[in-house]
Amino acid sequence: MLKKVGVTGFFALFMLNAGLMLYFGRETFQVTSNAQQPSRYSYHFVLISEEVDNEYWRLVEKGAEAASGKHNIHLDYWGPKQANNEDQLTFIDKAIASKVDGIMTQGVSSDTFNYLVNKSVQKGIPVITVDTDAPDSVRLAYVGSDNYLAGKLAGETVIKQTSGQQKVGIVTGRFEASNQQLRVKGFKDAVSSVSRIQIAGIGESNITKSGAIQATYELLKNHRDITAFYGTSALDGLGISQVASLYQQKKRPFIIAFDTLPETLTLLNKHKIDATVAQYPFIMGERAVETLFAIKKGAYPGSLQYTKTDIMTNLKGSHP
Ligand code: BGC
Repeated sequence: MLKKVGVTGFFALFMLNAGLMLYFGRETFQVTSNAQQPSRYSYHFVLISEEVDNEYWRLVEKGAEAASGKHNIHLDYWGPKQANNEDQLTFIDKAIASKVDGIMTQGVSSDTFNYLVNKSVQKGIPVITVDTDAPDSVRLAYVGSDNYLAGKLAGETVIKQTSGQQKVGIVTGRFEASNQQLRVKGFKDAVSSVSRIQIAGIGESNITKSGAIQATYELLKNHRDITAFYGTSALDGLGISQVASLYQQKKRPFIIAFDTLPETLTLLNKHKIDATVAQYPFIMGERAVETLFAIKKGAYPGSLQYTKTDIMTNLKGSHP
């Protein structure tokens, strides 16, 4: 009898343990559904973002979902909990191991990324980049903004909308992300011939609002004469605006942000920022799936698929 109870108890414990292992394994890697493709779908695609819960990436996901629905594609959306190249690369490798039919991922500038894209394509799994390109890899196409041009547009807006000497503080998402580098380069190139506009310094937000607050605060501490700020990723403008309204109350700096997340548009309407560079993440997601679907069907849609970027300003000229 005792022996029977012992065996049953052991079995129950074993099952509980196995269940917990499965559950937490899935949680750790944010795998939202089974990697095995159910055969009722036409294809199984994976979208890999810079950060899974970032509001901007959720819009890319929504667009990808909309297009997947149209073509009966099974879509998985994966990404690191906090922006991190290593985790992102692990997700790519995992998608290859899962034998998905196609991968859409933010481009990463690294040899490991190029190696993984090569490995994937060799195995017959096409890869396209979304939002950030990796032109040195063998990805089949890029869908997203022309990030250099977007940076230029931001620079031209500062030239147009300000007068007199300007010292610009730049808050950028991640120094190692090539879309951020291009946005900074485009901006610098645009203002380089205008001597009244100088770059005071640059700080990194790690694509979070709290990081942007910290970076803005550091910039202001080291360069008290800053008169303008440029935020190059979706949450940077929010952090800049929060610090600027606390520390530069008398004459707030000119602020140009990136993206059109609801909070950014509210700040624009309230005249707390002056302009923002609009990107179209929903369309990026939609077009990425359409492009990958076309590739699967044997078409070659062209390697550079730029989506629109434009400037939204606060036309009343809020900047004092
Ligand atoms: C960029 C993305 C980035 C996001 C972060 C966007 O402007 O295009 O690459 O992940 O900002 O919030």
